[in-house]
Parts: sequence; C-alpha cells; structure tokens
Amino acid sequence: MRGLFFVLVTCTVGASAFRLQQVKSTENCPDHTVYFKHYYELHGEPVVLKCPSPTYKHLDFSALAPNITWYKNGSKTIISGRDEDPRIWAKGDALWFLPAMLEDSGVYICTRRNSSYCAEVSIHLTVLEKKAAREIAYLQVLSTFTSGKIVCPELWDFTPNRTSLELKWYKDARPLEDASEKFVILKGSTSLIVTSVLPTDAGYYTCKMAFPYEGVTYEITRTIQVETIEQEKRITPIIVYPTQKTTSAVLGSKMTLPCKVFVGLSRHVHTDVEWLANDTVVDVVYKQSRVTEGERQETVENGENFIEVPLVFDSVEEVDFYTDFTCLAQNRYGYQVLPTRVKQEAVGLSWYIAMIPVTLAGVILGGICIHKCWKRRADKGYTIPKV
Ligand SMILES: *[C@@H]1O[C@H](CO)[C@@H](O)[C@H](O)[C@H]1NC(C)=O
Ligand SMILES: *[C@@H]1O[C@H](CO)[C@@H](O)[C@H](O)[C@H]1NC(C)=O
Ligand SMILES: *[C@@H]1O[C@H](CO)[C@@H](O)[C@H](O)[C@H]1NC(C)=O
Ligand SMILES: *[C@@H]1O[C@H](CO)[C@@H](O)[C@H](O)[C@H]1NC(C)=O
Ligand SMILES: *[C@@H]1O[C@H](CO)[C@@H](O)[C@H](O)[C@H]1NC(C)=O
Repeated sequence: MRGLFFVLVTCTVGASAFRLQQVKSTENCPDHTVYFKHYYELHGEPVVLKCPSPTYKHLDFSALAPNITWYKNGSKTIISGRDEDPRIWAKGDALWFLPAMLEDSGVYICTRRNSSYCAEVSIHLTVLEKKAAREIAYLQVLSTFTSGKIVCPELWDFTPNRTSLELKWYKDARPLEDASEKFVILKGSTSLIVTSVLPTDAGYYTCKMAFPYEGVTYEITRTIQVETIEQEKRITPIIVYPTQKTTSAVLGSKMTLPCKVFVGLSRHVHTDVEWLANDTVVDVVYKQSRVTEGERQETVENGENFIEVPLVFDSVEEVDFYTDFTCLAQNRYGYQVLPTRVKQEAVGLSWYIAMIPVTLAGVILGGICIHKCWKRRADKGYTIPKV
C-alpha cells in the first residue's frame, strides 16, 4: 500500500503544485463584493486601481491590508511585482498600469486576506481610445453669476507631492491662458477657478498633467463636462452619480450602489433622496431587508452641498436582475429620477472551469499509475516501485 501511495503522489505532484498555487487565491474566500465604481480610462495613460476597503458592515479590512493579491478575471495568474512585468504590476493596495492599453479592459479582482479571513472585491476597468475622452467625462455643475471651481479629478495617486503639481487646462480643446481675468490656475492645486460663471462657460474642459516615472514622461488627461445652472433654479436637485445605466454584480456578492445628489447652495434638509425598487419603497419590496437603503450622508464640496444615499445589497440574488431600481431626488422646486439596473457578471466561474482539465488530467494520470502499479505488483510480487 505504501508503494501505491508513493506512485500516486509522484504522478500527481506536477498537477497539484500548479493547482494549489492557482486555487489559493479564491479558496476560502466567502466574501465577494463588487466595487460600485467603474474605472473608465484612456489608452496610453497611467492608471492606478486601488483595492477598496469596504468599511460598511462594521468590518475593518485595514487589518488585511498587507496581504493583497490581484488577478484579472479569466486569467490564471496572480499579478506580481514590477520586476516580472514592467507595464502592469501590483504594489501595496494598488494595481499599476504604466501605461494602460485597450486590451487591459476587464474585471480585476483583489483579494485581501489574513490568517483567518478573506475578502474579494471585483473592479471594472474600461480602457478607451483617446478620442472617446468626452464619453467618459466627469460631470460638474457651476452656478451662474458667482465664482466657481472646476476640479481635475482623481490625480492624487500620481502626485504624492502637492507642491510639484502642475496642470494644463483646455476648454473645448483650446488652451486656457493663465493670465486671463476669467480663469485662475493655481499652482499646487487641482482646481481651475472661474471668476464669474456665465451660461456660455458650459462645455467640455480638459486638464492634463505630466507624470514622469523612471525616465519616461506619461500624460494624464481628465475631461470634465461642465453644466451651468441659473441661480434661481439651483435649488432643484441634480443626480450626479450613478452615471452608468447598469452595474454588474456577482450572484451572492455584497454591493453598495450610492446615489449622489447635487443640491447647490440649498440646505441639505430641504431635499429628499430615496431609492425605489419597482417604483415602490425599498423596505416594502424587500421585506426580509436583504436590500436596504443605507445611511444618508450630507457633504459640502467646494462650498456646494451634496447628499449621498446608498442602496445596500447584503447579497445579490437573481430577482435583482429583473428589478428596476430608481434613485429619486426631490424638493419643493423640482425633482430628478435616475433609473438603473443590476446585471449579472460571471466572476469566479472561470476558475472552476479552468480547473476541470487539470483535475481530469490528475485523475487520468492517477488511473494510469494505479494500473501500472497493480501490473508491477502482479509481475514482481511485493516490491516498492522506484520513484
Ligand atoms: C482578520 O481580519 C478580520 C477582519 O478584519 C478580523 O476580524 C480578524 O481578527 C483578523 N484576524 C487576524 C488573525 O488578524
Ligand atoms: C469573467 O470571465 C469569464 C470567463 O473568461 C467570462 O465569461 C465573463 O464574462 C467575465 N466577466 C466579466 C464581467 O467580464
Ligand atoms: C499574510 O498572510 C500570511 C499567510 O496567509 C499570514 O501568515 C500573515 O500573518 C499575513 N500577514 C498579515 C499582516 O496579516
Ligand atoms: C516636492 O517637489 C519639489 C519640486 O519638484 C521638490 O523640490 C521637493 O523636494 C519635493 N518634496 C518631496 C517631499 O518629495
Ligand atoms: C420587480 O418586477 C419584476 C417584473 O415585474 C419582477 O420580475 C421582479 O420580481 C420584481 N422585483 C421584486 C424584488 O419583487
């Protein structure tokens, strides 16, 4: 019997070494969350994906920070450090693309684990051609006949040192002059100040930042769609997030879908923000509280007021893919509704499918070994086979 055991171990060791390394990252990882934010980036530009630490549900994932691994959905390999691949590498809680390419689009999964716990988060990345920059513009709203601020978003991963921050600004592709009275570009700041906003200031603004890294200078571009609203109307709420019509989610995963509403200078308390499911209050449709409305947050950004109300899915189930979710923001001056859907994403399945040929190969090899071993035992009696 010992001989048989040796043979089996020897025959399958090749397959299982591979298998162990592959399965490790998904094994015992019951906590799968889909990150609500979808990254839209441009071909040829540096991109940093951050493994989010979901702080809701009273769990502090920061304790898991040092043990983070990344892989791309559908790929078998864990993304390693920069020595292995100078273009895509993992460092700390970040995944770097220097630069990102169209073919990098897909779902990236980061796994945070300690000895007793493991949480996975999947993050969507879409890389587009540079000419599609307007399709992925960030929406910002300015009130007319007062001063306003346009902010170049999501730069801080590339500027650890604020003093060295320097941006170039363009409106509808024309460079903005620093010396003009209309615009003020501050060094060391991500903002463009518009001294007195007019309705004609609406349009597409672009900010560009140079990002030198180990001898190569990359360019980071952000496009902002600026809308202006009249002061009298600025009390009408405007939904600025979600921007996408659908959000992908894995069956059984946790998900948070925030609804962010701009209320300008009007007071937070006067605006009501709520989520509806099939045009009905969420607690009525989901009596078991599997899907609930999260806590309302009132924030002030650049002197303007925002309200954020998340829709929290404890675990996404099939019925959610057939349910209409709507964020409704209203006050006595007006209202806005934003319908959105949850669609199914097949993450993780590919791992098990990829494992089938390996497992089969192992079984077949094992079968051959057993067969050979029995033959040898029959031929030679009880000798220990050479391994
Ligand atoms: C692992 O992380 C979980 C979640 O943060 C925490 O509750 C647990 O105490 C951690 N375990 C160890 C051994 O650090
Ligand atoms: C994940 O990968 C599988 C297999 O490659 C694919 O069928 C599935 O569509 C992918 N999911 C997403 C959201 O891209
Ligand atoms: C990282 O993971 C290893 C093995 O899973 C574990 O021994 C170690 O304690 C973890 N480190 C931290 C800081 O959680
Ligand atoms: C920040 O950048 C400036 C200009 O490039 C440089 O002189 C300074 O040493 C930098 N500071 C740090 C902390 O890196
Ligand atoms: C919402 O309506 C659709 C279509 O009528 C239905 O299939 C779905 O089950 C409803 N959702 C819930 C959560 O009841």
